[in-house]
Amino acid sequence: MPVVAFYSRDSNLELQDEWEKRLGAYYPRIKLVPLLSDQAKEAITALLWKPPLQRVRKLSNLKGLISLGQGVDHILKDNLIDNKIPVVKIVDPFMAKSMSHWVILSVLNFIRDTFGYYDQQKNKIYRSRKEINFSSLKIAVYGIGAIGSVVAKDLKHLGFKVEGWSRTEKNITGLNSFNGKTKFKELLKKCDIHICLLPLTNQTYNIFNNSAFKIMKPGSCFINAGRGEQVVEKHLIENCKSGRISSAILDVYRKEPLSKNSKLWEQKNIRIWPHVAAETNPETAAKQIANAIKCFENGKLPPNTIERKLGY
Ligand code: GLV
Repeated sequence: MPVVAFYSRDSNLELQDEWEKRLGAYYPRIKLVPLLSDQAKEAITALLWKPPLQRVRKLSNLKGLISLGQGVDHILKDNLIDNKIPVVKIVDPFMAKSMSHWVILSVLNFIRDTFGYYDQQKNKIYRSRKEINFSSLKIAVYGIGAIGSVVAKDLKHLGFKVEGWSRTEKNITGLNSFNGKTKFKELLKKCDIHICLLPLTNQTYNIFNNSAFKIMKPGSCFINAGRGEQVVEKHLIENCKSGRISSAILDVYRKEPLSKNSKLWEQKNIRIWPHVAAETNPETAAKQIANAIKCFENGKLPPNTIERKLGY
């Protein structure tokens, strides 16, 4: 009977049961046990979201780790996990579409000034507000892998001018895409809406800092559903105050959950979402996870095993 160590949201047992049921449909008799329990010592694989890594290190039978999300930075953090242990990420078209919906919602809220109208309603003001001409806007999507490429294409289908940026060169039919530091700066300068969907790596850590914000056009919109550590939050607040950024919509933070003391809450042109843009869906992700567990049990490398050197 395959035993899998499980950790998500402080070892939520209800969630663990749901995953066990979903995975059982593809891998009968699979048993999920809490990462912090004694039984976890038998586990060959672990299914994890933001686990205590010191505990994961103690499991000596592990042959592979599976992230309960699309990102794996929470497992690679501080290089605590032996780099011989393969790490698998979820690649799920359902999640890519959810992300796309959230980004589209954020972009449309920005250009149609949704929150300005909400404020007017509070004061019973019936008046049109300045509308941004969408056909003159340029959108940059930073990170055009399995998720970002879907987002960029969907925005294009809505009639926006979209360009993509990634660390390495990518050829995506129907999308102008760029790579490298010079092109990164060019996009920062010429685009009006900046969408960060990058994976967290040494290269993307703090990538949105004062030097990036300062070359954006005044009145830009910044949307982050990548990782909090890619943004210097203090710099973001400064640029939101100065108007360089007229609206920021955030789903991720350097420290999650976002502390009640964070100044981000108080900045009125920053919108806060609690890391929900594209949540992992047990229904759509179970098949690939069950397959990854089977691969590890049989000594094979599963699809979507990340490249340790790249960090994603
Ligand atoms: C969410 O942030 C994920 O990594 O799937």
